[in-house]
Amino acid sequence: MNTIRPLVAGNWKMNGLSVGLEQAKLLANDLAGSQQYKCDVMLCPPATLLAQAHWQLKGTKVALGGQDCHSAVSGAHTGDISADMLKDAGAIAVIVGHSERRTNHKETDAQVSAKATAAHNAGLVAIICIGETLDERKGGKTLGVLTEQIKGSVPAGSTASNSVIAYEPIWAIGTGLTPTTAEVAEAHAHIRAELSKVMGSEGPATRILYGGSVKGSNAVELMGVANVNGALVGGASLKAEDFMGIIKAYA
Ligand code: 13P
Repeated sequence: MNTIRPLVAGNWKMNGLSVGLEQAKLLANDLAGSQQYKCDVMLCPPATLLAQAHWQLKGTKVALGGQDCHSAVSGAHTGDISADMLKDAGAIAVIVGHSERRTNHKETDAQVSAKATAAHNAGLVAIICIGETLDERKGGKTLGVLTEQIKGSVPAGSTASNSVIAYEPIWAIGTGLTPTTAEVAEAHAHIRAELSKVMGSEGPATRILYGGSVKGSNAVELMGVANVNGALVGGASLKAEDFMGIIKAYA
């Protein structure tokens, strides 16, 4: 029995100019219809669009999140954005430790953990990303990698209300490849068990999202797997119609 309210979050990554917010408005209109979907919906546009999106989406069912934050509250960090700034712009959450940041910016588990703490301190939900590479999967190391990432990236003070875990196998991101449902079930069950070790009684109530090539055509299957409490969606979140195709898994 799964009583956790799922979350379907869209990560626009480095895509989207202000004209792209038309899609966010379309999404909000679709969600305002009579059909009630049994999930929360969030968009994480680039930081440049947050404030504008906030005003456009106020009062709708589309919540907003940032894609990354700095671990410090403020200071001499040119080009960086603090969790407080994201909150001020209208975000209620922030993705931390996305594999693209871990890879492109060499972010470590310790940095991801510090960012999650900064998010918590600012009153934001930290969406903490973990996931294995293809080599790690082929080498049978997936569960061990996930254990290490959880231990290192989920800070003390994490609760089911202030944290969401996103399991994103790196080889499934933007490739059209997805793990089998058995592989997803195994990874999510393992994450659930590890969360209980680091978060105690909050572990069983914490949302664990699956991310990596989620589309309308595979959403029902993936979202139906035990311990999958929603999705973190990249490419298919850019167009309202495609994103709705995933949200409809929760009709
Ligand atoms: P895709 O849905 O494009 O595979 O991206 C997944 C992702 O990285 C979401 O954060």
